[in-house]
Amino acid sequence: AKKAVLGPLVGAVDQGTSSTRFLVFNSKTAELLSHHQVEIKQEFPREGWVEQDPKEILQSVYECIEKTCEKLGQLNIDISNIKAIGVSNQRETTVVWDKLTGEPLYNAVVWLDLRTQSTVENLSKRIPGNNNFVKSKTGLPLSTYFSAVKLRWLLDNVRKVQRAVEEDRALFGTIDSWLIWSLTGGANGGVHCTDVTNASRTMLFNIHSLEWDKELCEFFEIPMKILPNVRSSSEIYGLMKISHSLKAGALEGVPISGCLGDQSAALVGQMCFQDGQAKNTYGTGCFLLCNTGRKCVFSEHGLLTTVAYKLGRDKPVYYALEGSVAIAGAVIRWLRDNLGIIQTSEEIEKLAKEVGTSYGCYFVPAFSGLYAPYWEPSARGIICGLTQFTNKCHIAFAALEAVCFQTREILDAMNRDCGIPLSHLQVDGGMTNNKILMQLQADILYIPVVKPSMPETTALGAAMAAGAAEGVGVWSLEPEDLSAVTMERFEPQINAEESEIRYSTWKKAVMKSVGWVT
Ligand code: G3P
Repeated sequence: AKKAVLGPLVGAVDQGTSSTRFLVFNSKTAELLSHHQVEIKQEFPREGWVEQDPKEILQSVYECIEKTCEKLGQLNIDISNIKAIGVSNQRETTVVWDKLTGEPLYNAVVWLDLRTQSTVENLSKRIPGNNNFVKSKTGLPLSTYFSAVKLRWLLDNVRKVQRAVEEDRALFGTIDSWLIWSLTGGANGGVHCTDVTNASRTMLFNIHSLEWDKELCEFFEIPMKILPNVRSSSEIYGLMKISHSLKAGALEGVPISGCLGDQSAALVGQMCFQDGQAKNTYGTGCFLLCNTGRKCVFSEHGLLTTVAYKLGRDKPVYYALEGSVAIAGAVIRWLRDNLGIIQTSEEIEKLAKEVGTSYGCYFVPAFSGLYAPYWEPSARGIICGLTQFTNKCHIAFAALEAVCFQTREILDAMNRDCGIPLSHLQVDGGMTNNKILMQLQADILYIPVVKPSMPETTALGAAMAAGAAEGVGVWSLEPEDLSAVTMERFEPQINAEESEIRYSTWKKAVMKSVGWVT
């Protein structure tokens, strides 16, 4: 059959907490041509610990690339048209590996992991100067969420890591660094780098100077020699070097030229380039980011300040305010894997639809404590308001409502910090296929919720950054490029009073979730 004639294509790796994807877009139309997805295992070796196998993550990337290339072949699309590859990834998750063997020295310590709670408590007692020391440099509160404390734990507790540091063999990275290093050759010349968005989540990076911060590294006692080079989010980092694990040899030599933490990538993919534009992504967690332009805005209401993107070596840096919710899609996975009340994640919609209400049942999924706006590590999950009438459908409904209430808390904080309330919410991510969830979200926020018909905006953002990089130049970031994007809109359908009553009961439930761990 004749090969389809297309313009240049751009691939994107989207390595999230729950799954890995590889997607290929047409750079002229932003059309998604093909993709493949693989679920990733999570290990819970002890209460509060969350780990993943870095090699399984890498293998899943290879598998997704291979399968996507096969699918493109079936569509008669020539994969030699793939001109660049972008990477977006779950942020903060910490890997240390041996640069001589390419072997990870411990499992990846996932962003949700709570093992560093006592490390955080001890460190907070000896913060130099005022309490703002960490926050003023990084935009982040001292919390188990960020990489510095996870790396500290590895240095304190894993002999293999200690020895590799002493012998100059250790490299640290978040998932982007681990993947880019491996995909560009690994132990045979792999490039050890990260981008400003991922670096800004480590708690070691100064978001004003855009460099690793010496004082922070001293405070956390992190040897700076193991840190990756920090680059912009859009430039050629290196070329794909095909390892024996990857059959799709055709991607050999393709530049990896885009890199963004997944939430930044979604902001770019949703074209939120203007001051005040915001998006909310529903993945394992849920993350609302509002572009604050070139200004670093510090929150008075529990939000983080983070690097939004820097799309080129000589391009300016943009910042965002972020509201992070730890548990969103993860609560559905928990209902599936731990309670077994659904077999597949999609079934949640059917269960919730059967009842259309939680009947007074509230579910606060504070499995990893509460993130924004509370930053309350002592919280744990609760389900309350149960009666003999309550069944699994009500619990399913309450789980969906919990995702929406958590977003409402963040939106309220964002509106207070920004002064101008958002008139609508742009959403994306896997869970946005759930129509009940989207309607509930509009009802609980009491503003319209707007969703692009192509929800893979995270991957799109990484592809845009890769395609627009200097030396690649196949994607123009001018807004008219995406004028064809169609949107689905959900309007609030309940009255404002009912919405408020439900929200205030949720807040009562949140208060009950706090203080379970002392
Ligand atoms: O900060 C963690 C975040 O990047 C994880 O994203 O999509 O896996 O929920 P996701």
